[in-house]
Amino acid sequence: MLSAFDTIRTDPLAFLEWSWRKYGDVVQFPIPKPPTFLVTHPDGVRRVLQANHRGYGKATVQYSRLALVTGEGLLAADTEAWRRQRKLVQPAFHPRSVRSVVDHTGVAVERMLARWDDLGDGAVVDVDDEMMRTALEIVGASLFGADLRGESEVLVAATQQGLHEVVARARNPLAPPTWVPTPGNLRLNRAVARLDKAVAEILAARRAQPTPAEPVDMLDWLLAVSDLGESELRDQIVTFIVAGHETVASALTWAWYLLGKDASAADRLAAEAEARCSDQRPGFDDLPHLPWAHAVFDEALRLYPPGWLITRKSLVADEILGHRLPAGSLVIISPYLVHRHDQGDPSIEDFDPGRFLAGIPSPQTGVYIPFGAGPRLCIGREMARAEGALLLSMASRRWRLASTDPAPARPQPLVMLKPKGGLRMRLRRRT
Ligand code: HEM
Repeated sequence: MLSAFDTIRTDPLAFLEWSWRKYGDVVQFPIPKPPTFLVTHPDGVRRVLQANHRGYGKATVQYSRLALVTGEGLLAADTEAWRRQRKLVQPAFHPRSVRSVVDHTGVAVERMLARWDDLGDGAVVDVDDEMMRTALEIVGASLFGADLRGESEVLVAATQQGLHEVVARARNPLAPPTWVPTPGNLRLNRAVARLDKAVAEILAARRAQPTPAEPVDMLDWLLAVSDLGESELRDQIVTFIVAGHETVASALTWAWYLLGKDASAADRLAAEAEARCSDQRPGFDDLPHLPWAHAVFDEALRLYPPGWLITRKSLVADEILGHRLPAGSLVIISPYLVHRHDQGDPSIEDFDPGRFLAGIPSPQTGVYIPFGAGPRLCIGREMARAEGALLLSMASRRWRLASTDPAPARPQPLVMLKPKGGLRMRLRRRT
């Protein structure tokens, strides 16, 4: 019992995978409160996230921990509060915003490539660090525009610190409430206070400027929504930073890892990018012409979905594939496992971007859910896919990233799924 408890704590993903493989598509854990189920069959996933979504809410331990940092932003908000917010926030994800994210991506990737040029051929980089840094720049610029780069760095650093403490809490089932002045709680509270201050300063700076005739960045869109109160605005901003950078960075890190093991997929990516955008920086209109880059990103998301855990609480009793779930049950869905539900496909564990060249399966099928499914589908999905495909294309034209370690990377389930111990790769200039 002790060793099962230790595995849950030290490697929850390995524990979930073991449970699924041993006990099947719907597993009830021997935990009385709350009754806890792992659902891995796509039909069950569809039931919870889509067909009967009104029967499930987000008042789970996972989201309440996240809410310590994000507050009741769109990601953690539940039922009615969420419905109202989603309607209000949706305009910030207008196709024009995707266009502007693409522009910011181009600028940030050029900065990353200049850094790699300085490091030179043969240098070893920590890929996860590089992807995090670039994704942060993109989310900062997309939210706040270039003029607030300095302030956004403070905000982002405080967000990171807060998340770090949230992960530490998740590893300690006996973590005392946040008002108890333990060192961890003090750090968490300090990070949240810094976040609050940074957001207040950013909002004050923006409000001191004349309102543009047309929203320029996502902050303009959010400010245009007069129904969002001050603390709701703060929560959305922090939510976008949390949800919008480490997810993309982690997917990109895994994409480089997979490309490092598959030279022909990497060469095809470079050739596609070269053919479409040889000398100029690619933009929004180039995206439909980069199908392989999208397929590589989508396939990395299949094998290593950054959001490896989705949880729900059942609001009423339900039945999933013959199993009765009482009201108040905790439902655990792991996209990492769902994507390995083979449905008779022997190549399910292989890296094969070709499987997505004709497009990705609709989230409604329940088989491919890196962005979730149903009404709570990720609001940033198109932004993330554009950002991922563009970064991979631009970087692959000039560089190949070679593994420095022949051993397979082991996924480590933190807030996002990351390679355990980071990912170091060697930069090889393409000639
Ligand atoms: C590869 C990148 C990304 C991945 C893998 C990802 C994954 C996810 C997943 C799995 C969910 C659903 C969670 C659930 O149902 O409980 C979600 C929701 C969400 N994501 Fe993303 N995401 C990504 C990028 C982004 C970006 C770029 C943004 C914003 C700038 C964003 C903002 C959100 C928000 C606000 C929600 C909550 C939506 C709602 O409940 O209405 N995400 N994301």
